[in-house]
This record gives sequence, structure tokens and C-alpha cells, in this order.
Amino acid sequence: MTRRKKKQNVMEEQMYEESMKIAKDAFRRFPLKNVRGVPLMEAIVQNWESVCTFCPDPSDLLMAAYPKAGITWTQEIVDLLLHNGDAMACRRAPTILRHPFLEIFSPPPIPSGLDLLNKMDPPRVIKTHLPIQLVPEGFWKNKCKVIYVARNAKDNLVSYYHFDRMNLTHPDPGPWDGYIHKFMKGELAWGSWYDHVKGYWEERQKINILYLFYEDMKENPRREVERIMKYLDLSCSDDVIKRVVELTSFKVMKDNPMANYTFITKPIFDHSISPFMRKGEVGDWANHFSLDQLQLFEEDYERQMKTTSIPFKTKTKVDF
Ligand code: PPS
Repeated sequence: MTRRKKKQNVMEEQMYEESMKIAKDAFRRFPLKNVRGVPLMEAIVQNWESVCTFCPDPSDLLMAAYPKAGITWTQEIVDLLLHNGDAMACRRAPTILRHPFLEIFSPPPIPSGLDLLNKMDPPRVIKTHLPIQLVPEGFWKNKCKVIYVARNAKDNLVSYYHFDRMNLTHPDPGPWDGYIHKFMKGELAWGSWYDHVKGYWEERQKINILYLFYEDMKENPRREVERIMKYLDLSCSDDVIKRVVELTSFKVMKDNPMANYTFITKPIFDHSISPFMRKGEVGDWANHFSLDQLQLFEEDYERQMKTTSIPFKTKTKVDF
């Protein structure tokens, strides 16, 4: 990285920090509004036209996931692969500035995801939580590569619950029992988990989406890093692949201020309620569901997922 580029990164980071300070009194738990039946944060809906008319470059990479499925982890893997395992290059800026969040709008003067994207030259890595039917048409027209990450429903729900406690710009999660129902009904921000994972799964072959599972990444990170590398048409040495796996372990990322979201502080994220890098485990749901809740959830899951065969590796009642 050139010295000029480094200086520019530092300045952008400082400006973002400054803008968060200026906007601090404008934050609150914003309500959700619908776009084509999908609940989204109010500001996204108010600016929807500019999001859905965004036109990417064919070289841009879209990284999509339902909230809390493990997109930050996957972004870090992608960034390291694109920089041949250079840890310092990937510490050039916090995740949110390295890979703009397509649809996010925060109170001014905080730059929106689109503001950040418009200042960057392609090829860009773009994060989204949008369900497939809301992704701007330009991504399909320009045949952009798409990496999707899915996480089993129960762990995804648990992670989202703790995130909604600490993200002071999302609706109050309320009690855990009620939160389970909101998740099942698709009432949380970015809508139904069930429709989200099914939507990308159904299109994965037609539009060449790399569909990853959080559980596979935990089970064999090296194998999944190599799958990502191949999808991106990269070829890294064995040492680089090893380094990417090490640098993206939960432990290392939790201590990396450029990847652990500690850059976003109160009044947006309150990490003292629950850190962004919380547990990073498979199966933490068992510490949250009662037997009654589990039964209800599983029955509803069968109903909502009966039309699909997505191979989630979910621990079942037997393991409970
Ligand atoms: S967000 O807010 O939607 O962008 O969140 P997202 O990054 O998709 O998901 C956050 C959860 O991913 C966990 N995480 C990791 N797990 C394992 N290894 C690594 N390296 C890693 N990085 C992030 C993070 O801890 C959140 O899960 P929970 O279960 O809450 O710990």
C-alpha cells in the first residue's frame, strides 16, 4: 500500500469517527418499515430508491447473509485472500470502511454505504443483508460474483437476540420468548430468516453463488477458505492459506480492532451489554431454548422449510 493510500485510510477513519460523534444525539432504536413486505430499518426505506438503483461494476463482489450468520468472518477471509495474507494491509481500516454495507443509512453526517462505495474504485467488496429479491438488479445484469453465508436457524436467532440487545439503533428485542416468535414470523430487521436462506439457495446454481455454511467454516476452516479462494479465481500458497485460517480464528478476530466492531461505540453499539464478537460457537442455542420453546420452534421450522433441502448441520432435540 502506498504512503498516500495509508494516509487517506487514516483520514477516512478519523472522519467516520468524527461524524459518529456529531450525530450522537440522533441515534435511537429506529422503527422498522417495509419494502415489498420485508421489514428494514426506517432510513433504508426512506432511501430505498437510491439503494435499488445502485449499479455495481462487473468486478465487484457481493457478500450477502442474513444478519448474524457470520458475514464479518467471511469478509475477513476474503480480504486476506485478496491481499495474499497480508495482515497489515487488512488492518488498513475497520470492516465497515473496507467493505461498505450497501443499504445502510445512518444519521448525517455519517456517510451511507452508498457514499462510501461511490468514493471507491472497483473492484469493491460489498456487504448486504438484503434478501435476494431486493438485491439491486445491476448485480445480476453485470454478473457479479456473490458469496452467501448461512447459519443454522437457532444459533442465528440467539446471536441476533444478543445483537439486538447491544445494537441501540435496532428495535428493542424484548424478552427472549417473544423474540423467538418475532424471528419465526419474520418480523426482525431484514425479514424472514427462512425466506432469506431459501431465496439464495434456490438461485445458487443459476447465478453461480458460492453458498457457505457457518458450521462448515467452524468444522474445517481451511477447506472453506480454499473454496472461497477458488471461487475468487485466486491461488495462494499453502503458507498464505494457513495464515488466513489463523488470522480469521475467532480468538484472533476478537482482538483485532479492525475486525471486531469496537470501532462502532455507544450510542450505536454497546459492547458492554454483549460484545459484537460474542461466542462464535455452534450449538449455543442449547443454552437459551427451553424444551417447550424448542418443540414449538422445530415444528414451525418443519413447516417453513419443508419445500427445501438446504443441508444445515443443526443439532437436534436428541443432542439437547
Ligand atoms: S452482522 O452484524 O450481521 O454483520 O454479524 P455477522 O458478522 O454476520 O455475525 C456475527 C456472528 O459471527 C461470529 N463471528 C465468528 N465466529 C467464528 N469465528 C470467527 N472468526 C467469527 N467472527 C465473527 C460472531 O461472534 C457472531 O456470532 P455469536 O454467536 O453472536 O458469537
